[in-house]
Amino acid sequence: MRRVFDDADGVARYAAETLRGMVESASAAGRRVTVALSGGSTPRRLYELLASEYAGQIDWTALEVFFGDERAVPSDHPDSNFRMASEALLDRVPLDRERLHRMPADSGDPVAAAAAYESVLRERVASGPDGFPALDLVWLGIGDDGHTASLFPGTEALEERRACVVANEVPQLGTWRMTLTFPALCAARRVQFLVTGASKARIVEAIERARSSGDLERYPATRVVPREGEVEWLLDRAAAGKARGG
Ligand code: 6PG
Repeated sequence: MRRVFDDADGVARYAAETLRGMVESASAAGRRVTVALSGGSTPRRLYELLASEYAGQIDWTALEVFFGDERAVPSDHPDSNFRMASEALLDRVPLDRERLHRMPADSGDPVAAAAAYESVLRERVASGPDGFPALDLVWLGIGDDGHTASLFPGTEALEERRACVVANEVPQLGTWRMTLTFPALCAARRVQFLVTGASKARIVEAIERARSSGDLERYPATRVVPREGEVEWLLDRAAAGKARGG
């Protein structure tokens, strides 16, 4: 499903409304909502909207918060996804901090840390019919090379079929990342890609061309196709510009 909005604010507002609606329904049924936050810069606008206009509209104690990926840096490092999300949202709303799960990608033993994160994910998130934890909502971005989370082209994590969380060596960045894998992303009930700005127009067009020709290998983002759930591409006009119907 592809949704094009006039501007980045429209994308953020639709995503915020998605979460608000999910929490409202879940709270009424006495259930939690499990969400995986995206890193990068695009989601900041969404997180700031949630922490401001939506702060009083969401029962934050009903949320269980995970991350889609994290860089191998401390939580106070400028590159940390956790720091960005904390500054824009997590430190500004009354989350139950016991239900906030930072990816410890700066651990001295990234493989063990990924396994430990997976244990928490499996403990806190009910598994779907395929045996993988089914997050209620996953927000993702895309990079210019078609990566999403830290599933970069040509990296080992792309081939992972069993683990939900891995430490992924990314030679093109010369570093480690911790990331959810395709089994975890494709088990989600709902995935929303947030893609805004003219700089994304080329990769959006390339991905849509690849998808229509059935090439799901070239760009990792195209392989996020939830088995039971739905995936939405939330684009502003600038990012959708060159693609069909942009
Ligand atoms: C990260 C993200 C990554 C990001 C894309 C887009 O840790 O950087 O998980 O997948 O979503 O690189 O980043 P921008 O939103 O900054 O363009």
